[in-house]
Amino acid sequence: MNVLLLGSGGREHALAWKIAASPLLTKLYASPGNPGIGRFAELVKLDIADHSTVAAFCQEKKIDLVVVGPEGPLVAGIADDLRAWGIRVFGPSRAAARLEGSKGFTKDLCAKFNIPTAAYGRFADLAAAKAYVEKTGAPIVIKADGLAAGKGVTIAMTLEEALAALDACFDGAFGAAGAEVVVEEYLTGEEASFFCLCDGATALPFGTAQDHKRVGDGDTGPNTGGMGAYSPAPVMTPDMTERTMREIVEPTMRGMANLGAPFAGILFAGLMITDQGPKLIEYNTRFGDPECQVLMMRLKDDLLVLLNAAVDGQLAHMSARWSDDAALTVVMAARGYPGTPEKGSVIRGLDEAASDGAEIFHAGTAINGGALVANGGRVLNVTATGTTVGEAQKKAYAAIDRIDWPQGFCRHDIGWRAVDREQTGK
Ligand code: AMP
Ligand code: GLY
Repeated sequence: MNVLLLGSGGREHALAWKIAASPLLTKLYASPGNPGIGRFAELVKLDIADHSTVAAFCQEKKIDLVVVGPEGPLVAGIADDLRAWGIRVFGPSRAAARLEGSKGFTKDLCAKFNIPTAAYGRFADLAAAKAYVEKTGAPIVIKADGLAAGKGVTIAMTLEEALAALDACFDGAFGAAGAEVVVEEYLTGEEASFFCLCDGATALPFGTAQDHKRVGDGDTGPNTGGMGAYSPAPVMTPDMTERTMREIVEPTMRGMANLGAPFAGILFAGLMITDQGPKLIEYNTRFGDPECQVLMMRLKDDLLVLLNAAVDGQLAHMSARWSDDAALTVVMAARGYPGTPEKGSVIRGLDEAASDGAEIFHAGTAINGGALVANGGRVLNVTATGTTVGEAQKKAYAAIDRIDWPQGFCRHDIGWRAVDREQTGK
């Protein structure tokens, strides 16, 4: 098969690494890709926003499958447009990607199909939103409805913060994404990321992970796209997984089919495990980044076979096997992240660092004058496996110690919750 992978981050590097291991693969192309992906794929410059350019490339290169990494092109309808040209695509339609593209859409779906989630109100009007917040009180959560690159959520511990967040949203802080807001109940519990591979009718559980959103050790400082992750998530016991499938994922699959927008692709449920059980925080309609990196390290089966089955509506006949090992990834970011990261510093020593079995996925790198340089906020994902999360953690940090990149930084406690559990036996 000839495959085209769209995207340029660590998630796409991990997907390329796994796709390249498939005996089904003839040739992998990636656009735009990155230097790490370039080891497995021919990198091509395509204007991904121009779907007919992508389609023409697919026809010329006889692409058998397009795999879409990030949410932006999905919400913009790339899967629909390529399918209209007869091209097979792994990824949801525009209508199904509303599960990520509109938080209000997802909340209404939950209400209609009785899916456990935080109580909420949906507002296109500042005065009505403020009245709701004043009536409900703090703590409370304010969310821009649309895609805001992970920045559209405010956890307001006081009424003042909540009202200020509403002002910012309606003042255009998130552009069109904030023209509408969701205001919701503040949930407490432990968070987990739960993934399902979906073909429109069947959802196949596809791994669990926990990520670390705050930039600093001990979960301090501003939110990021994710500073590290590990898999599996201990809180997702077999019982919790079964409840999540029955109470959240399966009603979502039925609901989406019912609305004429069956979901095919990766359904990524952000969950809060509360005293009453799992509640949906939000959906994403693609793999998590960096969660994908740890999932790919643990997946024993051929990813291309599974993606094909999802595209062809054949998942009811499939299963996915996972290594019993834990996997853990640490994000190395460029100084300045999550504000404005410094670009262009030289990174050395990656081959030596990976010598004891760590995989180093490139998230934001470029080649400049023959040298590997930082070219983004999150730059490298240093990833390892072990029989315990603690062992995977040791290996990942040992690999980081061998990387020569003084301008990079990382958190030093990725996996702490699971490692504590392992040490205390709880
Ligand atoms: P999101 O961008 O929707 O993933 O939200 C970012 C983070 O905000 C989540 O990972 C949670 O940690 C937190 N969050 C979102 N919604 C809620 C909620 N209703 N209650 C508590 N925390 C929340
Ligand atoms: N790591 C969270 C996300 O991919 O949205």
